[in-house]
Amino acid sequence: MKRVLVCLTLFAVAASAVSIGVAGAPADVSKAVGAKELAAAAKTKAEDLGKAVANEAAYSRAMENKIVAKDAGVIACLAQALVEHKDGEASGINATGLRDAAIVLSRTKKLADATAALKNVNEALSGKGEKGEKDHPWNKLVNMHRMMEEFEFQGGKLRRVLKRPRRLENYSENAAVLVVLGLAMEADTHEVKDKAKLPQWTKWSKEYHQAMSGLNTAIKAGDGAKAKSIFDAANESCETCHEVFRD
Ligand code: HEC
Repeated sequence: MKRVLVCLTLFAVAASAVSIGVAGAPADVSKAVGAKELAAAAKTKAEDLGKAVANEAAYSRAMENKIVAKDAGVIACLAQALVEHKDGEASGINATGLRDAAIVLSRTKKLADATAALKNVNEALSGKGEKGEKDHPWNKLVNMHRMMEEFEFQGGKLRRVLKRPRRLENYSENAAVLVVLGLAMEADTHEVKDKAKLPQWTKWSKEYHQAMSGLNTAIKAGDGAKAKSIFDAANESCETCHEVFRD
């Protein structure tokens, strides 16, 4: 009888640990990044997507480059971060609705569907539309390949401005994207085929989003030299991880 109880207790502990894993980002988003830049980044992405669905020619170019799946996946991560952020409500965004609309948008394959889904994204950005569940697993927000492409895209933008810092504060939203993608990377361990290597994945992902969080703080403080040194150091972890898990 005692043994059964112990087993049941262990089971309950394990089950609650799993549900905690699903219920939130691998770190406290309120400490990692500001709600303001999360909101700004989501709005920028929605504007970019507006251009991508402006006409058939633009749309087919965007689809070829997987821009819709990539940018909508990024919005989904930003939105979930806003859902969990202590200042998320104050942004005026319907964050749960934004996340759900962005996920639908990321999967669309036709211009008409993408246009309709983007309309819901924009409505949620202005605080309207249907609301969704607060909880959402972080490994089901963005496709990993698209996430990696966004690392490159945002990395390129930041590399340019950090070479000759100008209006650095405007780039806190770019750093915010990298923070939330780093959180999604830590949560999405499906590329780790050898489970003994899980701690390495976790370590490098964690180091990456923590560094991006520091980068965001340095950028907001207008400290270009500090931002550049954090950025350059963090980019070395790209190769370290690729050597073990990609190549
Ligand atoms: C924690 C591990 C990890 C880190 C850190 C990481 N990557 Fe990756 N990356 C992967 C894996 C695994 C793949 C292969 C899976 C895929 O593409 O879906 C990959 C694939 C890529 C690809 C896809 C195209 C290709 O050449 O195969 C690009 C681009 C990329 N990463 C860029 C980056 C950049 C830039 C950084 C740093 C800012 C980075 N990655 C950091 C694990 C990582």
